[in-house]
Amino acid sequence: MTDYDALQKQFQDFKSRNLSLNMERGQPANANFDLSLPILSAVDENNYTTDSGVDIRNYPGGILGLSEARELFCEQLNVESDEIMLGNNSSLEMMSRFLTWALLRGVNGSTKGWVNDSPKLIVTVPGYDRHFLLARELGFELVTVKMTGNGPDMDAVEKLVANDAAVKGIYFVPTYSNPTGDTISKDFAERLVKVKAAANDFTIFADDAYSVHHLQDNPTAAPNLLQMAKEAGSPNRVILFGSTSKVTFASGGLGLAGMSTDNIAYWSKAMSTGSIGPNKAEQWRHVLFLRKYPGGLKGLMQGHAKILKPKFDKVQEVLNRELGNHNLATWTDPRGGYFVSLDTIQPVASRVVELAKEAGLALTPTGATFPDGTDPENRNIRIAPTRPPLEEVELAMEIVACCIKLASAEASQA
Ligand SMILES: Cc1ncc(COP(=O)(O)O)c(C=O)c1O
Repeated sequence: MTDYDALQKQFQDFKSRNLSLNMERGQPANANFDLSLPILSAVDENNYTTDSGVDIRNYPGGILGLSEARELFCEQLNVESDEIMLGNNSSLEMMSRFLTWALLRGVNGSTKGWVNDSPKLIVTVPGYDRHFLLARELGFELVTVKMTGNGPDMDAVEKLVANDAAVKGIYFVPTYSNPTGDTISKDFAERLVKVKAAANDFTIFADDAYSVHHLQDNPTAAPNLLQMAKEAGSPNRVILFGSTSKVTFASGGLGLAGMSTDNIAYWSKAMSTGSIGPNKAEQWRHVLFLRKYPGGLKGLMQGHAKILKPKFDKVQEVLNRELGNHNLATWTDPRGGYFVSLDTIQPVASRVVELAKEAGLALTPTGATFPDGTDPENRNIRIAPTRPPLEEVELAMEIVACCIKLASAEASQA
């Protein structure tokens, strides 16, 4: 039997098992959610008044969120408690409101909204499909730069922003990026907060969705973009976003936005046009739950890591075992976050995803990690190992490896 025949047989064996595996989206596993189950009973008819005397049943409480919750969650974005604004259950919703406001009215320091300036946003590739969708549908032209092991390609960013006042900002994930798992280096972060921009209201929209999602016990601290911007004399340039979607319940918790106190004043005024304040009941039960959780937020994130790390280890183990010496693909080995990014050597990513589907494994559609859904090199595959149980991660990765070998063999024969 030739190698190709052996691969075909392995593929047919997977197919005959009528599998239904899914590694398409980065969702927590039920075991992750279970860590936060006490949230559901943290608030009852006896504790609806906060320490500072806010009755969570009534309107007063403010657009910024409960002080107790701001004090607790500022740690997640590595800002001070007066530098955080809380939102409802989704950071994407907050980002969408901020970007929409920027288009219509500008950011703090703009003379007018951006909408009539054919605004452009720099995004990193491979990147997060929902960033692309949101920014593009709002009308931004997306300009891509490569996500490197040190963060956005700063040579490219510096060139793009220097002479084009239509480049209004950069929208990216600074820590354990989706999908590469890369974190911006101190050097690149310095360059970014200090970048000489033609637009005087150039803004760094940093989606720090994975700021506390470490897989290692003693993680290296990521650069503090807001602190650096303050030190560089541009405190209003950075806006950080995050949420508890992968801390407690996905889409069932709090959105977070971190910024200078000057920006807090600007954005709270902007946001209060559309809301009297975010859901206080949700904030209060998060506070009560996390106060009791051993080790607080850090302890909870360590609990998540215990569940997630074996899955990420399994991805590496299978890829190394099956593809280690074949020169068919390269892949990242993240220290945190929710994804592994794999690049095939040959332009066969879409064929791999197609074959995997035939074998009963749903992967993120090819191109999702690029604006307009097209990977110009047809090489990138996002692997999302968090949701399936460990045994399924192993099987799914064996299928991925088999499909990469098969698709590469087909391409070599063609
Ligand atoms: C980088 C990034 N930002 C935001 C989100 C979604 O966040 P939220 O649930 O807070 O809207 C995700 C979810 O996968 C993500 O990967």
